[in-house]
Amino acid sequence: MKLIVINGPNLNLLGKREPEVYGSQTFEDYFTELQSRFKEVELSFYQSNIEGELIDKLHEVGFSCEGIILNAAAYTHTSIGLGDAVKAIETPVVEVHISNTHQREDFRHVSYISSGAKGVILGFGLQSYDLAIQSFLL
Ligand code: DQA
Repeated sequence: MKLIVINGPNLNLLGKREPEVYGSQTFEDYFTELQSRFKEVELSFYQSNIEGELIDKLHEVGFSCEGIILNAAAYTHTSIGLGDAVKAIETPVVEVHISNTHQREDFRHVSYISSGAKGVILGFGLQSYDLAIQSFLL
């Protein structure tokens, strides 16, 4: 099975960024662990801080890949364009967040991704990504 993890803005700073919210592990480190935990999955990873690049990536993989695990980060709460892209492609998208966005500021309670997503997993730290991968294997 071919799955891709797509991370949005500021997630390249995981490990250094607000460790009390997002933990102290880098995503690169965690991704290596994911690959060894899910050897049966052909897992790739893309990160960008640029909204249009994230949309381009969804278009590129959204008709060939079997599943997309998307943490659109702050664009989750602002980007109609990313929300439309999720609806425009064929590949199912699972929306993921590290933190429980519903326990945080009001502006994080809105998601432009959720209505087009197959499901949403949030609040389990980096393990949210593990759970999203597992959801594709059910
Ligand atoms: C996040 C939550 C967003 O509100 C925030 O802007 C992020 C990360 C999360 O994974 O918890 O950058 O998507």
